Amino acid sequence: MLRPVYWEEGAVRLLDQTRLPHEEVWLTLTGWQEVAAAIREMRVRGAPAIGITAAYGLVLSVWGLSPGADPGPPFRAAAEGLSRTRPTAVNLFWAIRRMERAFQEHQSVGLPGLKETLLREARKIHEEDIAANRLIGEHGARLLPPGARVLTICNTGALATGGYGTALGVIRSAWVAGKLELVYACETRPRLQGARLTAWELLREGIPFKLLADSAAGWLMARGGADAVLVGADRIAVNGDTANKIGTYTLAVLARRHGVPFYVVAPTSTVDPDLEEGGKIPIEERGEAEVLSPYGCRLAPEGARAWNPAFDVTPAGLITAIVTERGVISPPYHETLSQGLA
Ligand code: MRU
Repeated sequence: MLRPVYWEEGAVRLLDQTRLPHEEVWLTLTGWQEVAAAIREMRVRGAPAIGITAAYGLVLSVWGLSPGADPGPPFRAAAEGLSRTRPTAVNLFWAIRRMERAFQEHQSVGLPGLKETLLREARKIHEEDIAANRLIGEHGARLLPPGARVLTICNTGALATGGYGTALGVIRSAWVAGKLELVYACETRPRLQGARLTAWELLREGIPFKLLADSAAGWLMARGGADAVLVGADRIAVNGDTANKIGTYTLAVLARRHGVPFYVVAPTSTVDPDLEEGGKIPIEERGEAEVLSPYGCRLAPEGARAWNPAFDVTPAGLITAIVTERGVISPPYHETLSQGLA
């Protein structure tokens, strides 16, 4: 199974997602600053994957220290720097907090012990994510009818996680269970995670799919072409409001209009226990160039301006169920999500 990030001999190895699908380039990163830059530049992306990568980045912040050095200042600088890379996915802050706890509890064991503890914690975060994804896949596949045609957006696969995937993990599990007929994958303007990354993953797995322009989703549903919509999440508020890739909200509105079940698929590390509702989720806005000149190809005339929010928030009322590793959560979400996390 593909792992987009892993630790190898004192370095973070990362599959550069800006080069996919045409080139498979593996980066070797040895400083937390390089890791932060890779997250900011979206060489690694997807909520769980950036959390795991940041955790390995924090290991790097102390890995090269000589005996007797104080690990506190470099570790804290890395935690601060990594938390400023991307604002929306809560998994990033969740993973940093876990690493901070491990650091605080083991500061006194001496530098070699601390290094091993931090590496063990980062690997644990990684392994737990893969295990969660496999459970999510099983729970989610059970929701789909035989011969399911599902619509998805962005990339929520192995590339976006520790491995296996969330919404795409459900698709994998449904395919293995013989329940899946076809995946419709939105291209996902402007970064084209669907056209570039989901297509790359589905081709590798031999899962039948068709790409569609984001704006074709409504017509697909109107013609009865989708049995379910499966999307990932970057941050879920305790009331169930969910931030995910821009365009997700549009799919949710369309799904409600056409009576198609709309499932959010995410590990519980994506739930933000401190946020009561989605209005307070920080939404990343990215540069205009991504819209005006995607991947360096100038589309708009000189002088055109663009607005480029990277995420939107789908109100809980439009979400049929949330699929987590702990099971399928149905509305009302507030009680279940706060209980599930207790
Ligand atoms: O901007 P990206 O590519 O990091 O956005 C990714 C998404 O929106 C995914 O749907 C989400 O992170 C879930 S990935 C399992």
